[in-house]
Amino acid sequence: MPHGLRGFIESASLVLVEELERRTMAILKIAQMGNPVLRRPADRVPVKSITSPVLQHFVDDMIATMREYSGVGLAAPQVHESLQLVVIESIENPRYPQAPAIPLTVLINPAVEPLTDEMDEDWEGCLSIPEIRGKVPRYREIRVRAHDREGKPIDFSAKNFFARVIQHESDHLQGILFLDRMQKLGTLTYLAEYHRYWAKE
Ligand code: NI
Repeated sequence: MPHGLRGFIESASLVLVEELERRTMAILKIAQMGNPVLRRPADRVPVKSITSPVLQHFVDDMIATMREYSGVGLAAPQVHESLQLVVIESIENPRYPQAPAIPLTVLINPAVEPLTDEMDEDWEGCLSIPEIRGKVPRYREIRVRAHDREGKPIDFSAKNFFARVIQHESDHLQGILFLDRMQKLGTLTYLAEYHRYWAKE
């Protein structure tokens, strides 16, 4: 192949190579419960490095991975990178058919604080704990401060399902899994039984 990818890369300028890399997305492997990376507090992302091609490429890979596995959120430690970075999105999701829509959201170094003492219990699952669901109490409304993928500071409040997903994902950055947040393990259920007995609740 006279004009293969390698030849192109060797002859291309650095800018072109970066552009090419940026457009080549990969589906990343998901760390499963028991992997120590899920139990470590993640490192903060230096704000200056947010716009670097390497980090932007990684964010694109996380989004592609979340969509591939029909997650509504994904935290960097779940793909073996101990960094404070999460992606969230909810659009017509077969894993959560009743889930309200959430636009694509990238949160870097998020700080979450409750805006109310009120908590709701609802079902959660996790790509790192496959085939299991359980009811988890979460604050109904929260304030979130973070950086977006352009490195800009963002500060907003979130309610209900969006607030739940943010709390679940930011817990991953502290090494906390949803099982740790369950008050009782009585609602723990396999996915098949969830669909058979509980999904229409
Ligand atoms: Ni999770």
